[in-house]
Parts: sequence; structure tokens; C-alpha cells
Amino acid sequence: MNGSINGSHDYARVYVWEQPVRWFHWINAVTVIVLGATGWLIANPPAFMSETEASFSYWFGDVRFIHFAAAYVFTANFAFRLYWSLVGNKYSKWRNFFPLRRAQIRQIGDVLKVDILQSTQKPVHTVGHNSMAYFTYAGTGLLTVFQIASGFALYAPMSESWFPALFTWVMPLFGSEFSLRIFHYAVMWAFTVFTIIHVYLVFYHDYVEGHGVLSSMVGGWKFLEKKTIAAEEASGISPYPSKPTTPAPVAPTQVAKIN
Ligand code: HEM
Repeated sequence: MNGSINGSHDYARVYVWEQPVRWFHWINAVTVIVLGATGWLIANPPAFMSETEASFSYWFGDVRFIHFAAAYVFTANFAFRLYWSLVGNKYSKWRNFFPLRRAQIRQIGDVLKVDILQSTQKPVHTVGHNSMAYFTYAGTGLLTVFQIASGFALYAPMSESWFPALFTWVMPLFGSEFSLRIFHYAVMWAFTVFTIIHVYLVFYHDYVEGHGVLSSMVGGWKFLEKKTIAAEEASGISPYPSKPTTPAPVAPTQVAKIN
């Protein structure tokens, strides 16, 4: 391998992640990290011995305030992504997240064979996420719903606002505040494990496949071989007509032949 140009390919530049999806992603990533860090502190409060007047050591109150404020942002951001899965382009549509079509199920099998079983080295190239990734994100979506419902149910007794009050029915399902807290805490760890694997995988795929997957969540574009794009169109995955996106200025690099 000569290091800079890897073989001969006919590439196209594809606008995959629209701005609202990118904003969702980064707001979600920041709020998950803030919620995880502050949530961990709330669950494991450091017992400081201090001579300071109690009202001057309100930092724990600040930690809780940040947790609750981030929870509202996390919730509104998720609601926005649900809306965008109805009106966004075909790669962001809700149907991708549910593997109900045969082509999606087959692709999940192919991804498992390459990434987990390592029984084949034939990589799975896709324009949006691969079907396994979409399905995983559906799982994180479910965890998100649970975390919102359980978190606001725990917050409701301390709040006079109408929104947490919507979740007062959750606590009786778990028997006690204590057991609901345990589940809320466990799901925080599930998010932590997801984040570690997720960040590893996007860096790994970015390096191995060279489609610009990492920067696609910043600028929106990926770079794929034209035959990969044609194969995806033919596979029936993400087949829904997308709204025409604002055409970016067509530079000579837009569809570039690299030899
Ligand atoms: C902080 C470092 C992170 C990086 C570098 C990163 C990078 C990426 C990239 C590149 C994608 C697109 C993958 C593709 O095109 O197939 C993606 C998607 C996604 N990531 Fe992350 N991510 C990070 C953190 C997180 C965190 C903390 C979460 C939540 C716990 C998260 C949740 C998601 C979700 C849900 C998607 C799918 C987005 C959608 O389709 O709406 N990410 N991430």
C-alpha cells in the first residue's frame, strides 16, 4: 500500500446527515456525558468533611441542578429527533431503525459475520448507518425513553412543574423509589458501555473503510464508491424518496475519480 492512494476507485460525495441530525447527535452526546457524570456523583456523593458554613457548600445542589437541566435538554432534543425521523431525508427516516424488511435483516447478518463472528472479511458498505447500527440506535432510543420516564418520575416529588408530574405513574410500577433508582442507575451504565463501543467503532470504521464516517457527523458528507451507492439503491434499504436537499455548489471534487 502506498499510504496515500489506496487502489483505483470511482467515488461520489453524498450528503447523508442533514444539519438537524448533526445538531441532534452532538447535543445528545454532550447531554449524555453531562447526565452520566452528574448522575454518577448524585449516586455516589463524596462525603466531604468541611468546616465551611453549609450554605456556602452548595456545590451538590449545583450538580443536581445541572443534571435536571441537562435532562430537559436531552428530552427536548430526543423529541426533536423523533419529529425529524418523520420529515428528514431517507437516511434519517424512522423506518430504517426497525429491521422489518428482508434486506435489512440480511444486512444485520452480514455485519455480524464481519464484525463479531469474523467468519468473512467482506466489508458491508452503506450510505446511511448499516442496519445493525440503525437497530442498535433504536435500542438506545428505547433506553432514552426509559431514562426520561424514570428520571422525571424520580424528580416529580421535588418539582411543582407540570412536566415531571406526567411521569408519576412510573414509580408504582417499580414498587418503590429505591428500585426505580437502581434501574435508572443501571441504564446510565448501559449508556456508558454503548458510548465506549460506539466511539471505538466509528473511529475504527472511519479508518478501515475510508468513507469519512467520522466527519460525516460534522459536515454531513460521506465518500463512497458509485457502485456501493448503486448497490444500496438496489438493495431496498433506505428506499424512501428523500426531500431534495439544497444542492451544494458542485466543485470538481464532488464526484471525483481517484486513480
Ligand atoms: C463523543 C464522541 C462521539 C463520536 C465521535 C460519535 C460519532 C458518531 C458518528 C460518526 C455517527 C455516524 C455513524 C454513521 O454514519 O454510521 C454517530 C451516530 C450516532 N451516535 Fe455518536 N458519537 C459520539 C458520542 C455519542 C454519544 C455519547 C451518544 C449517545 C449515548 C451517541 C449516539 C449516537 C446516535 C444515536 C447516532 C445515530 C444518529 C442518528 O441517526 O440520529 N454518540 N456518532
